[in-house]
Amino acid sequence: MICLLIVFGACKDDKQDPKVEGDLTDVLYAPVPYVPEIPASFPPLEVPEDNPLTEEGVQLGRRLFYDPILSADQTVSCASCHPIFSSFADPTRFSFGVNGTQGNRQGMALINAGFYQNGLFWDGRVMTLEEQALLPVEDPLELHEDWDNVVEKIKNHPDYPERFRKAFGIENVNDITKELAVKAIAQFERIIISGGNSKYDQVLRNEAFFTEEELNGFDMFFDISADIPDAECGHCHNGPLLSTNEYFNNGLDNITDLENFPDKGRGLVTQRLFDNGKFRAPTLRNIQMTPPYMHDGRFSTLEEVIEHYNSGGHYAPNLDPLIRPLGLTEQEKSDLVAFLKTLTDTNFLNNPDLSNPF
Ligand code: HEC
Ligand code: HEC
Repeated sequence: MICLLIVFGACKDDKQDPKVEGDLTDVLYAPVPYVPEIPASFPPLEVPEDNPLTEEGVQLGRRLFYDPILSADQTVSCASCHPIFSSFADPTRFSFGVNGTQGNRQGMALINAGFYQNGLFWDGRVMTLEEQALLPVEDPLELHEDWDNVVEKIKNHPDYPERFRKAFGIENVNDITKELAVKAIAQFERIIISGGNSKYDQVLRNEAFFTEEELNGFDMFFDISADIPDAECGHCHNGPLLSTNEYFNNGLDNITDLENFPDKGRGLVTQRLFDNGKFRAPTLRNIQMTPPYMHDGRFSTLEEVIEHYNSGGHYAPNLDPLIRPLGLTEQEKSDLVAFLKTLTDTNFLNNPDLSNPF
């Protein structure tokens, strides 16, 4: 300590002394690359150069994700609103944050988020998982905590400092930052991958067969055959992720003036009037596991969702033209639901790196 007060050069020897307060250099830093299992049909996982996936980083992120240490009153964690059993979507319509504060949007499924390159959240207001993970902590509707406090709590924790050392090679406890914490969380989120083992994917690989109902639903969904009605779904929900990740108005609200949407959605981000009331077309993978549905969780069953689309939705000046009365029979509606259920892939439930580590 005294050294700090005298000439810097004279301290040289002491600087190499590993017993500086908070020193972590005794802990081995030898990160092991993490290789996630990615379904063959998926696009490549885009990982930022400055945050490669490592075993140590993923495990640290997993702990932070499940740890209420991130919240003001130590009661809420990311997993409170994104539990694994529902494909990391919030089973509650409007999630309760700290003090039981309620938001006005439903927490979406956090699967395959590492593959989305056109914005996260229902309105696409952030682009990267690192950027995203900064937000819930300080959001009064979510964890309602100050990052400085969180970082203090982490620094004083019996286990976390060593884990930050192992994941990121920091030399001292004081090198722990919120930026490193969100990097770890983002690493964990990137390995939440689900898809390859759904019945749908098995059928595409000729490893299984649809039932007649499922096949009929598939045909309607993707407009395969001229003989049966086209349900238009595949225009907005398609590709290996079953999401275009584009923004549309799918007719949830009856609006004559674009200013009047109860939630302006995409318009809040682009500041374009015509984008008001548009939301991201989310993935339909594991959709059976993620009720309630839509950005405000207004539908509690897939049958209600199909009823909505079949009705042609509500009028708004920017209603997408593909949203129109479909005239489906009861059988056709239930065929569509049967098809949607083939998108369920619970394989990630067996990934030991994704469950609660505590
Ligand atoms: C109180 C409930 C709540 C908590 C706690 C919470 N979230 Fe969320 N999460 C939501 C809601 C609601 C949305 C959608 C918000 C929106 O679109 O405006 C969301 C969206 C997301 C998304 C966007 C996914 C996508 O595909 O666009 C990610 C990623 C995410 N949360 C990660 C986290 C992480 C990491 C934490 C912990 C640091 C966390 N969440 C804590 C409710 C919560
Ligand atoms: C014009 C594009 C478009 C078409 C066509 C379309 N959708 Fe959607 N879908 C969306 C958008 C946008 C959302 C999110 C809307 C919101 O929450 O405000 C959505 C949401 C959903 C959801 C809820 C997802 C969740 O996580 O809550 C389901 C289920 C769904 N669509 C199924 C279908 C089916 C089945 C069809 C065909 C009958 C269909 N969609 C046709 C754009 C579309």
